[in-house]
Amino acid sequence: MDFRSAQRAILQLLGSVAPADRTALLQWMRTTRDFDEFIHDNTDIMLKNIADDLRNCLPLETMLSSEHLALQKVRFLSHSLSIVELKFIYHHVLPDLSGKVLVDVGSRLGTVLYGGYLYSSAIQLYGVELNGDFCQLQEMVIKKYQFSDRIKVLHADICTQGSLLQNADVIIMNNVFEYFLNEAQQVSAWEYISHNVRKKGSLLVTVPSLEDSLSGLQTNIELSLWVEEVPLNYEVYPQKDIDREALEQIHLYKIL
Ligand SMILES: C[S@@+](CC[C@H](N)C(=O)[O-])C[C@H]1O[C@@H](n2cnc3c(N)ncnc32)[C@H](O)[C@@H]1O
Repeated sequence: MDFRSAQRAILQLLGSVAPADRTALLQWMRTTRDFDEFIHDNTDIMLKNIADDLRNCLPLETMLSSEHLALQKVRFLSHSLSIVELKFIYHHVLPDLSGKVLVDVGSRLGTVLYGGYLYSSAIQLYGVELNGDFCQLQEMVIKKYQFSDRIKVLHADICTQGSLLQNADVIIMNNVFEYFLNEAQQVSAWEYISHNVRKKGSLLVTVPSLEDSLSGLQTNIELSLWVEEVPLNYEVYPQKDIDREALEQIHLYKIL
C-alpha cells in the first residue's frame, strides 16, 4: 500500500471508531511505544540510504583497503561509526536526550549527527569539522534528508569553539585527534577539551577510552579530577555478527 492509500485507510478507520473512544485511540497513537519497531526499521533504512549517498560521493581512494570490508558490514565508510555502534550509543549508552544539546567533535561525514537525529530526541546536534570538503558533504545530506531543524555543522577547529563545548550536555569524541593531528597538536587539543568540557553532570562519550587516547601524550590532564567513568553493559546485542570489540571501545564519562 502506498502512502496516500495508507493515509486514507487510517482516516477511514478513525471515522468508524465510536466517537466516545476516538480521543482515547488518538491519545494511544500519540504516546504508544507499539510503533517503535516500525520507526526503528525505517530509521535503519534511512541511515543505509545515507551511507549509499555518501559512498557515491566519496572517491574510493579516501577509504583504506581494510575499510572496504567494513563497508560491506554497513559501516559508515572510513573513520566513522557503524549503525550498530550508533544504535548502541543512542539506545544504551546515553540517557533520554530530550531538550539536550549534543556536540560531535570532528563530525566528518556526519554519521553521529544523523544517528542522533533519528535515534534520539536531542534538541540540537552540532558537528564541528576541520575539513571543509567533509562539511560540504554533511550539508548535502542535511539538506536532502531535511535534518536542518536540529543539526548544524560548523567548519572549524574545535579549539576555537570554547562556548559550544562549555554549554553542551553531551560531547562525542570518536578517534578525533589520533589519526589527524601530530603529537604536539594532540596534546594542546586535549588540554583545550579538558579546560572547556566542564559542565558538571554533562556526558562525554569517547572511542577509545580517555586513558588510551591520552597514554603516550605528555598532558597535564588529571582524569580523576575531571571525569568519572560510567560502566556500560556491552552484552546488549547477543547476536553473533555484532563486532563486540568495536562496542567495547566505546566509553562513557560524567563530568565532575
Ligand atoms: C575519526 S573521524 C570521526 C568521525 C565521526 N565523528 C564519527 O564518529 O563517525 C575524526 C574527524 O575529526 C576531524 N578533526 C580532527 N581534528 C579536529 C579539530 N581540531 N577540530 C575539528 N575536527 C577535527 C578530522 O578531520 C576527522 O574528520
